[in-house]
Amino acid sequence: MKTLTLTRPDDWHLHVRNNAILKAVLPHTAKQFARAIIMPNLKPPVTTVEQALAYREEILHAIPNGESFTPLMTLYLTAATPLSEIKKAAESAHVYAFKLYPAGATTNSDAGVADIKAIYPLLAELEKQDIPLLIHGEVTREDCDIFDREREFVDTSLTQITTNFPGLRIVLEHLTTSEAVDFVQASGKNIAATITPQHLLYNRNALLAGGIRPHYYCLPILKRERHRLALVAAATSGNPKFFLGTDSAPHLTSLKETTCGCAGCFSAHAAIELYAEAFEQADALDKLEGFASFYGADFYRLPRNTSTITLNRTSWTVPLSYGDSETPITPLKAGEELSWKLQ
Ligand code: NCD
Ligand code: ZN
Repeated sequence: MKTLTLTRPDDWHLHVRNNAILKAVLPHTAKQFARAIIMPNLKPPVTTVEQALAYREEILHAIPNGESFTPLMTLYLTAATPLSEIKKAAESAHVYAFKLYPAGATTNSDAGVADIKAIYPLLAELEKQDIPLLIHGEVTREDCDIFDREREFVDTSLTQITTNFPGLRIVLEHLTTSEAVDFVQASGKNIAATITPQHLLYNRNALLAGGIRPHYYCLPILKRERHRLALVAAATSGNPKFFLGTDSAPHLTSLKETTCGCAGCFSAHAAIELYAEAFEQADALDKLEGFASFYGADFYRLPRNTSTITLNRTSWTVPLSYGDSETPITPLKAGEELSWKLQ
Protein backbone atom coordinates (compact mmCIF):
# COMPACT_ATOMS: atom_id res chain seq x y z
CA MET A 1 0.00 0.00 0.00
CA LYS A 2 1.47 3.36 -1.06
CA THR A 3 -1.12 5.78 0.24
CA LEU A 4 -3.73 5.69 2.95
CA THR A 5 -6.75 8.00 2.79
CA LEU A 6 -8.88 8.44 5.89
CA THR A 7 -11.81 10.55 6.91
CA ARG A 8 -10.19 13.49 8.72
CA PRO A 9 -9.54 12.30 12.30
CA ASP A 10 -10.16 14.04 15.66
CA ASP A 11 -8.00 13.98 18.78
CA TRP A 12 -10.12 13.21 21.85
CA HIS A 13 -7.39 14.06 24.42
CA LEU A 14 -4.97 16.90 23.80
CA HIS A 15 -2.86 19.36 25.77
CA VAL A 16 -2.01 22.55 23.88
CA ARG A 17 -1.02 24.76 26.87
CA ASN A 18 -1.13 28.53 26.30
CA ASN A 19 1.05 31.49 25.26
CA ALA A 20 4.22 30.65 23.29
CA ILE A 21 3.87 26.86 23.59
CA LEU A 22 0.31 26.99 22.26
CA LYS A 23 1.55 28.88 19.18
CA ALA A 24 4.34 26.35 18.68
CA VAL A 25 2.25 23.18 18.99
CA LEU A 26 -1.24 23.97 17.68
CA PRO A 27 -0.30 24.04 13.95
CA HIS A 28 0.80 20.39 14.22
CA THR A 29 -2.63 19.34 15.46
CA ALA A 30 -4.57 21.62 13.10
CA LYS A 31 -2.88 20.20 9.99
CA GLN A 32 -4.23 16.69 10.64
CA PHE A 33 -7.18 16.80 13.06
CA ALA A 34 -10.52 18.56 12.55
CA ARG A 35 -11.33 18.79 16.26
CA ALA A 36 -9.73 18.07 19.61
CA ILE A 37 -10.85 17.76 23.19
CA ILE A 38 -8.70 20.36 24.95
CA MET A 39 -7.43 19.43 28.40
CA PRO A 40 -7.97 22.07 31.11
CA ASN A 41 -4.85 21.53 33.26
CA LEU A 42 -3.37 24.97 32.74
CA LYS A 43 -1.83 26.95 35.59
CA PRO A 44 -4.29 28.01 37.00
CA PRO A 45 -6.70 25.31 35.80
CA VAL A 46 -9.70 26.05 33.58
CA THR A 47 -12.53 25.56 36.06
CA THR A 48 -15.28 27.83 34.75
CA VAL A 49 -17.19 28.23 31.50
CA GLU A 50 -15.97 31.81 31.33
CA GLN A 51 -12.32 30.70 31.54
CA ALA A 52 -12.93 27.99 28.94
CA LEU A 53 -14.42 30.52 26.54
CA ALA A 54 -11.41 32.84 26.98
CA TYR A 55 -9.04 29.90 26.47
CA ARG A 56 -10.99 28.90 23.37
CA GLU A 57 -10.49 32.39 21.92
CA GLU A 58 -6.75 32.14 22.56
CA ILE A 59 -6.66 28.78 20.75
CA LEU A 60 -8.69 30.11 17.81
CA HIS A 61 -6.15 32.92 17.40
CA ALA A 62 -3.29 30.41 17.25
CA ILE A 63 -4.76 28.44 14.32
CA PRO A 64 -2.65 29.07 11.20
CA ASN A 65 -4.42 30.88 8.34
CA GLY A 66 -6.13 28.49 6.00
CA GLU A 67 -6.55 25.67 8.51
CA SER A 68 -9.93 24.83 9.97
CA PHE A 69 -9.80 23.39 13.45
CA THR A 70 -12.38 23.30 16.24
CA PRO A 71 -11.29 23.17 19.89
CA LEU A 72 -13.79 21.31 22.09
CA MET A 73 -13.40 22.72 25.58
CA THR A 74 -13.43 20.91 28.92
CA LEU A 75 -13.60 22.08 32.53
CA TYR A 76 -11.36 20.91 35.35
CA LEU A 77 -13.51 19.39 38.09
CA THR A 78 -12.58 20.34 41.66
CA ALA A 79 -14.18 19.77 45.05
CA ALA A 80 -15.12 23.44 44.91
CA THR A 81 -16.91 23.32 41.54
CA PRO A 82 -20.41 24.71 42.17
CA LEU A 83 -23.39 22.75 40.82
CA SER A 84 -24.36 25.90 38.94
CA GLU A 85 -21.15 25.65 36.85
CA ILE A 86 -22.23 22.22 35.63
CA LYS A 87 -25.61 23.64 34.59
CA LYS A 88 -23.80 26.49 32.83
CA ALA A 89 -21.55 24.02 31.04
CA ALA A 90 -24.57 22.03 29.90
CA GLU A 91 -25.96 25.18 28.30
CA SER A 92 -22.67 26.20 26.69
CA ALA A 93 -22.16 25.46 23.00
CA HIS A 94 -18.42 25.05 23.51
CA VAL A 95 -17.94 22.93 26.64
CA TYR A 96 -18.07 19.19 25.99
CA ALA A 97 -16.90 17.50 29.17
CA PHE A 98 -15.49 17.75 32.69
CA LYS A 99 -12.08 16.30 33.55
CA LEU A 100 -11.44 14.49 36.81
CA TYR A 101 -7.84 14.48 38.00
CA PRO A 102 -7.16 12.70 41.28
CA ALA A 103 -5.17 15.31 43.27
CA GLY A 104 -1.47 14.88 42.62
CA ALA A 105 -1.85 12.20 39.92
CA THR A 106 -0.09 14.09 37.11
CA THR A 107 1.09 17.41 35.65
CA ASN A 108 -0.86 20.36 37.14
CA SER A 109 -3.25 18.19 39.12
CA ASP A 110 -2.78 19.87 42.52
CA ALA A 111 -6.27 21.35 42.24
CA GLY A 112 -7.70 17.89 41.55
CA VAL A 113 -10.00 15.79 43.67
CA ALA A 114 -8.60 14.23 46.87
CA ASP A 115 -11.74 12.36 47.93
CA ILE A 116 -13.99 11.12 45.15
CA LYS A 117 -16.92 10.51 47.51
CA ALA A 118 -16.87 14.23 48.35
CA ILE A 119 -17.76 15.08 44.75
CA TYR A 120 -20.65 12.61 44.40
CA PRO A 121 -23.20 15.47 44.20
CA LEU A 122 -21.21 16.83 41.23
CA LEU A 123 -21.11 13.43 39.55
CA ALA A 124 -24.88 13.13 40.06
CA GLU A 125 -25.34 16.48 38.33
CA LEU A 126 -23.06 15.46 35.42
CA GLU A 127 -25.11 12.28 35.06
CA LYS A 128 -28.35 14.28 35.13
CA GLN A 129 -27.08 16.83 32.59
CA ASP A 130 -25.63 14.00 30.46
CA ILE A 131 -22.17 15.62 30.28
CA PRO A 132 -19.23 13.22 29.80
CA LEU A 133 -16.75 12.83 32.65
CA LEU A 134 -13.18 12.30 31.46
CA ILE A 135 -11.07 10.48 34.00
CA HIS A 136 -7.34 10.32 34.68
CA GLY A 137 -7.60 6.85 36.18
CA GLU A 138 -4.80 6.46 38.70
CA VAL A 139 -4.81 6.28 42.47
CA THR A 140 -2.29 8.57 44.14
CA ARG A 141 -1.53 6.67 47.33
CA GLU A 142 2.20 6.84 48.04
CA ASP A 143 2.20 3.18 49.01
CA CYS A 144 0.76 2.08 45.68
CA ASP A 145 3.42 1.07 43.16
CA ILE A 146 3.44 3.44 40.19
CA PHE A 147 2.91 0.51 37.79
CA ASP A 148 -0.22 -0.59 39.72
CA ARG A 149 -1.93 2.78 40.06
CA GLU A 150 -4.28 2.42 37.11
CA ARG A 151 -5.35 -1.12 37.95
CA GLU A 152 -5.98 -0.07 41.55
CA PHE A 153 -8.06 2.91 40.39
CA VAL A 154 -10.16 0.67 38.15
CA ASP A 155 -10.77 -1.77 41.01
CA THR A 156 -11.67 0.89 43.57
CA SER A 157 -12.69 4.42 42.53
CA LEU A 158 -13.85 3.64 39.01
CA THR A 159 -15.91 0.68 40.12
CA GLN A 160 -17.53 2.86 42.81
CA ILE A 161 -18.26 5.66 40.35
CA THR A 162 -19.83 3.38 37.74
CA THR A 163 -21.86 1.52 40.38
CA ASN A 164 -23.23 4.71 41.91
CA PHE A 165 -23.77 6.57 38.64
CA PRO A 166 -24.69 3.90 36.12
CA GLY A 167 -25.90 6.40 33.51
CA LEU A 168 -22.86 8.69 33.68
CA ARG A 169 -20.98 8.89 30.38
CA ILE A 170 -17.30 8.27 31.10
CA VAL A 171 -14.13 8.30 29.05
CA LEU A 172 -11.30 6.54 30.83
CA GLU A 173 -8.39 8.49 29.39
CA HIS A 174 -5.10 7.09 28.10
CA LEU A 175 -5.58 3.41 28.94
CA THR A 176 -2.38 1.60 29.83
CA THR A 177 -3.32 -1.81 31.28
CA SER A 178 -5.09 -4.99 30.25
CA GLU A 179 -7.26 -4.65 33.38
CA ALA A 180 -8.54 -1.26 32.21
CA VAL A 181 -9.22 -2.69 28.74
CA ASP A 182 -11.20 -5.55 30.32
CA PHE A 183 -13.18 -3.11 32.47
CA VAL A 184 -14.16 -0.92 29.52
CA GLN A 185 -15.05 -3.93 27.38
CA ALA A 186 -17.28 -5.35 30.11
CA SER A 187 -19.10 -2.04 30.80
CA GLY A 188 -22.12 -0.51 29.15
CA LYS A 189 -22.10 1.70 26.05
CA ASN A 190 -21.69 4.82 28.20
CA ILE A 191 -18.10 3.88 29.12
CA ALA A 192 -15.39 4.43 26.53
CA ALA A 193 -11.63 5.00 26.49
CA THR A 194 -8.85 6.76 24.64
CA ILE A 195 -5.48 5.21 23.78
CA THR A 196 -2.26 7.15 23.07
CA PRO A 197 0.32 6.39 20.37
CA GLN A 198 3.11 5.87 22.91
CA HIS A 199 1.17 3.20 24.81
CA LEU A 200 0.55 1.34 21.52
CA LEU A 201 4.17 1.57 20.37
CA TYR A 202 6.25 1.15 23.52
CA ASN A 203 6.49 -0.85 26.69
CA ARG A 204 8.33 0.22 29.83
CA ASN A 205 11.70 -0.91 28.50
CA ALA A 206 11.66 2.22 26.32
CA LEU A 207 12.03 4.30 29.48
CA LEU A 208 15.06 2.54 30.87
CA ALA A 209 16.80 0.40 28.24
CA GLY A 210 20.40 1.53 27.74
CA GLY A 211 19.91 4.61 29.92
CA ILE A 212 17.12 6.75 31.31
CA ARG A 213 15.01 8.27 28.55
CA PRO A 214 12.88 11.14 29.79
CA HIS A 215 11.00 11.68 26.54
CA TYR A 216 9.18 8.38 27.05
CA TYR A 217 8.07 9.41 30.53
CA CYS A 218 4.37 10.16 30.72
CA LEU A 219 1.55 9.35 33.10
CA PRO A 220 0.13 6.82 33.36
CA ILE A 221 3.61 5.38 32.91
CA LEU A 222 4.41 2.87 30.14
CA LYS A 223 3.68 -0.68 31.26
CA ARG A 224 4.84 -4.26 30.50
CA GLU A 225 4.66 -5.76 27.02
CA ARG A 226 1.57 -7.83 27.84
CA HIS A 227 -0.33 -4.61 28.58
CA ARG A 228 0.86 -3.00 25.34
CA LEU A 229 -0.40 -6.04 23.45
CA ALA A 230 -3.81 -5.75 25.15
CA LEU A 231 -4.02 -2.10 24.11
CA VAL A 232 -3.09 -2.89 20.51
CA ALA A 233 -5.73 -5.62 20.46
CA ALA A 234 -8.37 -3.20 21.82
CA ALA A 235 -7.46 -0.35 19.46
CA THR A 236 -7.46 -2.60 16.39
CA SER A 237 -10.54 -4.62 17.38
CA GLY A 238 -13.09 -2.34 15.74
CA ASN A 239 -14.86 -2.00 19.10
CA PRO A 240 -16.22 1.60 19.11
CA LYS A 241 -15.51 1.98 22.84
CA PHE A 242 -11.83 2.57 22.03
CA PHE A 243 -10.79 5.68 20.14
CA LEU A 244 -7.91 8.03 19.44
CA GLY A 245 -6.67 10.45 22.09
CA THR A 246 -3.01 11.37 21.72
CA ASP A 247 -2.48 12.93 25.16
CA SER A 248 0.17 14.96 23.33
CA ALA A 249 1.60 16.85 26.31
CA PRO A 250 4.36 19.28 25.36
CA HIS A 251 6.95 20.35 27.91
CA LEU A 252 10.07 22.40 27.18
CA THR A 253 13.02 20.08 26.58
CA SER A 254 14.81 21.65 29.56
CA LEU A 255 11.93 20.61 31.83
CA LYS A 256 12.06 17.00 30.58
CA GLU A 257 15.85 16.58 30.61
CA THR A 258 16.43 17.46 34.23
CA THR A 259 16.70 15.98 37.72
CA CYS A 260 12.92 15.78 38.13
CA GLY A 261 11.54 15.76 34.60
CA CYS A 262 7.90 16.53 33.78
CA ALA A 263 5.49 13.79 32.69
CA GLY A 264 4.20 13.99 29.14
CA CYS A 265 5.16 12.98 25.59
CA PHE A 266 4.82 15.47 22.73
CA SER A 267 3.32 13.54 19.82
CA ALA A 268 1.25 16.09 17.89
CA HIS A 269 4.02 16.54 15.29
CA ALA A 270 3.28 13.08 13.85
CA ALA A 271 0.23 11.83 15.67
CA ILE A 272 -1.64 10.10 12.86
CA GLU A 273 1.63 8.74 11.44
CA LEU A 274 2.49 7.21 14.83
CA TYR A 275 -0.90 5.51 15.01
CA ALA A 276 -0.50 4.31 11.41
CA GLU A 277 2.82 2.76 12.42
CA ALA A 278 1.20 0.94 15.35
CA PHE A 279 -1.79 -0.28 13.31
CA GLU A 280 0.45 -1.43 10.46
CA GLN A 281 2.63 -3.41 12.87
CA ALA A 282 -0.56 -5.17 13.98
CA ASP A 283 -1.57 -5.71 10.35
CA ALA A 284 -4.73 -3.72 11.01
CA LEU A 285 -4.47 -0.54 8.92
CA ASP A 286 -8.07 -1.18 7.82
CA LYS A 287 -9.17 -0.56 11.43
CA LEU A 288 -7.45 2.82 11.75
CA GLU A 289 -10.24 4.95 10.30
CA GLY A 290 -12.89 3.78 12.77
CA PHE A 291 -10.54 4.32 15.70
CA ALA A 292 -9.22 7.70 14.50
CA SER A 293 -12.17 9.26 12.72
CA PHE A 294 -15.50 7.68 13.70
CA TYR A 295 -15.88 6.22 17.19
CA GLY A 296 -14.90 9.31 19.19
CA ALA A 297 -17.33 11.52 17.27
CA ASP A 298 -20.05 8.92 17.79
CA PHE A 299 -19.41 8.78 21.55
CA TYR A 300 -19.51 12.59 21.86
CA ARG A 301 -22.62 12.62 19.61
CA LEU A 302 -20.98 14.89 17.08
CA PRO A 303 -21.19 14.47 13.31
CA ARG A 304 -18.38 12.48 11.72
CA ASN A 305 -16.04 14.61 9.60
CA THR A 306 -16.56 14.53 5.85
CA SER A 307 -13.21 15.73 4.48
CA THR A 308 -10.20 13.41 4.24
CA ILE A 309 -6.45 13.28 4.84
CA THR A 310 -3.95 11.16 2.95
CA LEU A 311 -0.76 9.56 4.24
CA ASN A 312 2.05 8.50 1.91
CA ARG A 313 4.14 5.47 2.59
CA THR A 314 7.49 7.23 2.59
CA SER A 315 10.10 7.21 5.27
CA TRP A 316 11.20 10.43 6.96
CA THR A 317 13.27 11.37 9.97
CA VAL A 318 11.54 13.11 12.85
CA PRO A 319 13.37 16.37 13.70
CA LEU A 320 15.28 16.49 16.98
CA SER A 321 13.31 19.49 18.15
CA TYR A 322 10.25 21.60 17.38
CA GLY A 323 9.35 25.10 18.53
CA ASP A 324 11.75 28.04 18.28
CA SER A 325 14.85 28.83 20.32
CA GLU A 326 12.65 30.10 23.18
CA THR A 327 10.40 27.04 23.20
CA PRO A 328 12.39 23.95 22.18
CA ILE A 329 10.23 20.82 22.51
CA THR A 330 11.59 17.33 21.90
CA PRO A 331 9.06 15.18 20.01
CA LEU A 332 8.33 11.49 20.38
CA LYS A 333 10.69 9.52 18.09
CA ALA A 334 13.08 12.50 17.76
CA GLY A 335 15.79 11.62 15.25
CA GLU A 336 14.10 8.31 14.34
CA GLU A 337 12.41 7.14 11.16
CA LEU A 338 8.68 6.99 10.54
CA SER A 339 7.27 5.13 7.57
CA TRP A 340 4.07 7.14 6.93
CA LYS A 341 3.90 10.85 6.18
CA LEU A 342 0.90 13.16 6.04
CA GLN A 343 0.48 14.58 2.52
C1 NCD B 1 -0.06 15.42 30.98
C2 NCD B 1 0.44 16.88 30.98
O1 NCD B 1 1.66 17.07 30.84
O2 NCD B 1 -0.36 17.79 31.08
N1 NCD B 1 1.06 14.56 31.22
C3 NCD B 1 1.14 13.23 30.94
O3 NCD B 1 2.12 12.60 31.32
N2 NCD B 1 0.19 12.60 30.27
C4 NCD B 1 -1.14 15.26 31.98
C5 NCD B 1 -1.90 13.97 31.84
O4 NCD B 1 -2.67 13.78 30.91
O5 NCD B 1 -1.72 13.09 32.71
ZN1 ZN C 1 -3.44 14.16 29.30
